Amino acid sequence: MNNFVFHCPTEFVFGKQTENQIGELCNKHKARRIMIVYGGGSIIKTGLLKRVKDSLDNEDIETCELSGIQPNPIDTKVREGIVLARSFKPDLLLAIGGGSVIDTTKAIAVGYYYGGDFWDFYAGITKPEKALPVGVILTIPAAGSESSGNSVITNTTTHVKVGIRQPMLLRPVFAIMNPELTMTLPEWQTASGISDMMAHIFERYLSNTPDVEIGDRLAEGMLLAIMEVAPRVIKNPNDYEARANIMWCGTIAHNDTCSLGRQEDWNSHAMEHEISAEYDVTHGAGLSVIFPAFMQYAAQSNPNKIAQLAHRVLGVADTGDAKADALEGVKKLKNWYHDVLHLPVSFKELGIPNPDIELMNTRLHKLKGDILKGYVELNKDDTFKIYQLAL
Ligand code: NZQ
Ligand code: ZN
Repeated sequence: MNNFVFHCPTEFVFGKQTENQIGELCNKHKARRIMIVYGGGSIIKTGLLKRVKDSLDNEDIETCELSGIQPNPIDTKVREGIVLARSFKPDLLLAIGGGSVIDTTKAIAVGYYYGGDFWDFYAGITKPEKALPVGVILTIPAAGSESSGNSVITNTTTHVKVGIRQPMLLRPVFAIMNPELTMTLPEWQTASGISDMMAHIFERYLSNTPDVEIGDRLAEGMLLAIMEVAPRVIKNPNDYEARANIMWCGTIAHNDTCSLGRQEDWNSHAMEHEISAEYDVTHGAGLSVIFPAFMQYAAQSNPNKIAQLAHRVLGVADTGDAKADALEGVKKLKNWYHDVLHLPVSFKELGIPNPDIELMNTRLHKLKGDILKGYVELNKDDTFKIYQLAL
């Protein structure tokens, strides 16, 4: 196991009606002026925004609002938010929503104190040193941003979708997680969220670091739990216990609990970000297309960990032939995405019959370099072939 530092200060307030504690929680965190950030209006429709504002009003906390954050969030909205924040001067930013809202809020949090354009952080020109605190009320279990140190934004000029990872700065100070709030999610968003959290586990599981059994077993346990509970959520969106299990899984899948002390991969995410940047697809649905293709390709040269996943999680018998078992596991995973989550497993099913692979591949390597390091090393030819396998 490699050396590591793990710092996860997020205070989780989990369970029924916990959003009503927002006023008290802000007080506890000494936040008297709050900028609320949210998306396209689901929280207005469900009445959540009103409940939150009532709770803040009860504590005499002042608020301003930034709304209209879209899925696959964009740079222009971040700049709008920074301008608003600088005039309102909040002492906490409150994201109500999912990954897109939270990531925009984190970008505003670091851009607030910076003299230049916030994109400099995402372009890798400089690193943020200071951020406004971010609190979260989570409405969709998926991206894991409620406890991750990451933020992913799309640049509308260059079509680059890229993340920053600053765990010491960007992990939210608190996350209110009420599984009841997720019952209004359409099946597509629920399923895409489940695919995303599974991908976050795969990215960590597919590692060449030896003797990381604790991380492996945590990852396998989470995957088994997700795969057991997911059919219940799809069948009955109001199954509270199933929703609760999925919600907590989404958080620990991505807050580094199962990746400590090991090399991680993240190349499937990099490949998917090119798809969602160009075609504006739902991130988790892009992942159910690209991850099986990546595993199928990686199994040719490095099958062992994929075979282990197949044996321990996907119910494949150990035949002693790692490559064959790994490929059988990939087949089972694809079927599961299809049959249980009703998600696409090819570009065609994603509604993109003729993707511009050349364009996505060129952008991918411009951003990440000639060789993508990880579970297997991928050059331009390799990633081109993986995109092709997903057709
Ligand atoms: O905008 P509203 O009207 O609220 O609707 C949203 C949105 O359309 C809807 N929704 C959310 N909660 C709902 C609801 N509808 C009904 N009832 C509810 N309770 O769901 C839609 C999707 O929301 P979004 O925030 O985009 O979902 P998600 O959490 O999947 O976030 C995806 C984004 O996160 C990034 C992705 O790339 C993508 O841009 N990621 C961020 C990561 C991170 N920061 O650590 C890691 C991930 O790998 C990922 O890359
Ligand atoms: Zn993801």
